[in-house]
Amino acid sequence: MITEIIKINPKDTEKLNRAAKLIKNGETVAMPTETVYGLAASAFDENAVNKIFEAKGRPQDNPLIVHISDISQLYEIVSFVPDSLKKLANRFMPGPLTVVLPKNEKIPDVVTAGLPSVAVRMPSHETARAFISACGVPLAAPSANISGSPSPTSAKHVYDDLNGKIPMIIDGGECSVGIESTVLSLTGETPELLRPGGITLEQLQSVLGEVNVNAAVLSPVDKNTKACSPGMKYRHYSPKTKIIAVKGSSRSFADYVNFKKDESVCALIFEENRENIIVPYVAYGKRNDCNSQARSLFKSLREVDALGKEVCYAELPRADETGLAVVNRLLRAAGFSLVNLEKKDGGEFTVLGLTGKTGSGKSYVCEILKNKGAAIIDGDKLAREIVKNDKELLKELAAAFGNDIIKDGVLDRKLLASRAFRDKEGVETLNALTHPRITRLADCELSSLKKSGARIAVIDAAALIESGISEKCDILAVTYAPESVRLERIIKRDGITESEALLRMGAQKEDGFYSSKADYVIRCYSPYNMNKELEPLLKKLGL
Ligand code: TXA
Ligand code: MG
Repeated sequence: MITEIIKINPKDTEKLNRAAKLIKNGETVAMPTETVYGLAASAFDENAVNKIFEAKGRPQDNPLIVHISDISQLYEIVSFVPDSLKKLANRFMPGPLTVVLPKNEKIPDVVTAGLPSVAVRMPSHETARAFISACGVPLAAPSANISGSPSPTSAKHVYDDLNGKIPMIIDGGECSVGIESTVLSLTGETPELLRPGGITLEQLQSVLGEVNVNAAVLSPVDKNTKACSPGMKYRHYSPKTKIIAVKGSSRSFADYVNFKKDESVCALIFEENRENIIVPYVAYGKRNDCNSQARSLFKSLREVDALGKEVCYAELPRADETGLAVVNRLLRAAGFSLVNLEKKDGGEFTVLGLTGKTGSGKSYVCEILKNKGAAIIDGDKLAREIVKNDKELLKELAAAFGNDIIKDGVLDRKLLASRAFRDKEGVETLNALTHPRITRLADCELSSLKKSGARIAVIDAAALIESGISEKCDILAVTYAPESVRLERIIKRDGITESEALLRMGAQKEDGFYSSKADYVIRCYSPYNMNKELEPLLKKLGL
């Protein structure tokens, strides 16, 4: 069979009709969606649906998602629409959310693998909806990959997997979400998350309140037990290279992988780690931007295969927000083989760099660490010390900012600040003079702490990263509040709508500079939350 790739935009009625004709004739067609490409057939046509299973080599007991173009189509498929669905539809449909509901008799068993429920999704991709609408029937469609391999996020990926097995691929560009939809079951008393995806658990909770998380989300499913979502029990998203997931800081990951010095090893890393890794690698998104990770994960897994290595160590993100879905996919790609570098072996000297915007809870965290026995190096104090004791520095500052900033051998800090902070150049000059000296001083303090037998030193400095002191740190932590929490909090606190809150947040400065470099982001948004928030860091430090 010849596989035609055809670029279609939502207004290409003629081309859409040509593709729809294939569906009406009982064929399969690969279509783009915002999550991943799907391999579609009429959900009412048992023979056509069988062709999907054949082309993909998909196990028959793994049910398919039925795609609709309009919410009214839901009633052609399900036997009951709960109130919770209406709430969800208002917020997340169309979009990367699939809901599982009791099916009606029109849906053949082959679609649902004999289950009494059916999974339904309305994609937000305009071409997908235009195509479903042109077909005039709901479309059953799993991801358009060979079963077990990474889901396709471009028409080329589909072609690489299914060339010669299907008549047509609709090319709608690269998928914007990049991982499959969130699957939520509404068949029980409490909604249950079966597969994490583009719509996050936090978002679902904000609409539904309680949401259970199925055990299979982050742990393997025993092949013999009956899975709630049968797809969970298969090894998935796997390239040919053996993937091993690694949990830990960027630094510990780099040390671990570089130490392997093995020809057969490669790595799947975050952008920020590029300069630190000496084995061949593929980068997939930024460390603290799970959406960017999701967007390139599957493409990157395919690129890992192209490196032709035996083993690939993959950096794992934090398992919250979209990160939960990324962790879920990576653990499955790895067949759950996981190396945890966060278990700290004792007896060493560890330097923690702590930074964050003013008022973000830095001092509060410092106090807790101090009470638990960590030695604190206060960056502000170091800065005051150098301008007091370093005569050479005072001379250089006077030359740069005017002799009058020194009165009787003492620096007028206010006057210096008013001159230095006037413009960017002033700040740069000040930093160029002070930062290397502060770093040297921090180094001295670290050495003497180490000699004195201290186990953990914390450097608390606002300009930790800019000054280069962070280079001396084994672990970097930043205090801040994540966007969704800020959003929720702003809405509650100020009694405003989500869009108003988003507008305000959009006007704020990016936290990304710090958080993208940090190993731990400590969300200091509620004192009640602090113990839990600090838990991973304290564990890592052995405190
Ligand atoms: O984003 C997506 O969801 C993509 C695009 C094409 O829409 N589709 C997709 O389909 O990922 P697939 O077949 O690769 O994954 C469907 C998942 C499987 O884990 C399957 O077990 C689950 O949905 N599922 C389908 N019907 C179900 C049902 N009745 N009850 C529980 N889980 C179901
Ligand atoms: Mg799939």
